[in-house]
Amino acid sequence: MHQNLGYEFFNRYDIGDTPDEFTDAAGKFSEMLCWYGCAIKEIRTKLEVLNEEFKAKKSRNPIESIRTRVKSPMSIYEKMERRGYEITLDSIMGELHDIAGVRVICPFIDDIYMVSEMITRQDDITVLERKDYIKHPKPNGYRSLHLVLEIPVFLSTGKRPIKVEVQIRTMAMDFWASLEHQIHYKKFKEDKVEIVEQLLDCATVIYETDLKMQSIHKELFSVKDLRKEYSVRESEIEKKYTKVRRLSV
Ligand code: GTP
Ligand code: MG
Repeated sequence: MHQNLGYEFFNRYDIGDTPDEFTDAAGKFSEMLCWYGCAIKEIRTKLEVLNEEFKAKKSRNPIESIRTRVKSPMSIYEKMERRGYEITLDSIMGELHDIAGVRVICPFIDDIYMVSEMITRQDDITVLERKDYIKHPKPNGYRSLHLVLEIPVFLSTGKRPIKVEVQIRTMAMDFWASLEHQIHYKKFKEDKVEIVEQLLDCATVIYETDLKMQSIHKELFSVKDLRKEYSVRESEIEKKYTKVRRLSV
């Protein structure tokens, strides 16, 4: 099937009848993919800025890593075909919201909501969709916060709004999702119900661990913050007394 897909793709996608028309159509398609790549760069930079600022203020990174991808032409074709959409640039850009994908991995659950809040309140970003699969996990146990954002990309011809799908999850949620994806990918048929149940169990255990790690972190941080506050207060008192001592001499 895949061998014919390339041919079928070009057959369905309006590539014209002459070499010039073909070159023009192929050029427009790769130009479109380039816009999505640029939108990813913008989102990545915004996330990196937030991460660096947070690190400078709190000595800790709320983002552990960022992965990105632009959907391949074949996946674009397959999804459009599967959903029965016309395959034109306009309908591809209108119908698909995951051509540009950004995956943000955070250490703790609270970081997910903080990162999401910090990025969505920026005034050049429009939130088109928000799905909270952490508060409402999928029946199979999948957890993650999904956002579909629209960001303007400034091209030579002007400003173009581009959609980017952002998935934010903890390292633990990512561990589960990556393995679950591999298992599904290999399509284990036998003992399917049992496998689904086992995966759900793993997701629950992983989530409980996430919650535990979060509360340990909170506890440690509040002790650290108290100590910091205490030592600041101490040094302020010390300064005050030194001044008083100096004045009284
Ligand atoms: P599609 O974008 O067509 O997949 O459907 P949708 O718009 O309803 O998106 P949804 O928010 O449910 O999921 C989009 C993406 O999240 C997928 O492409 C996967 O990357 C990820 N995802 C969603 N559900 C699962 C899941 O059960 N397991 C894993 N591993 N990933 C998932
Ligand atoms: Mg999607």
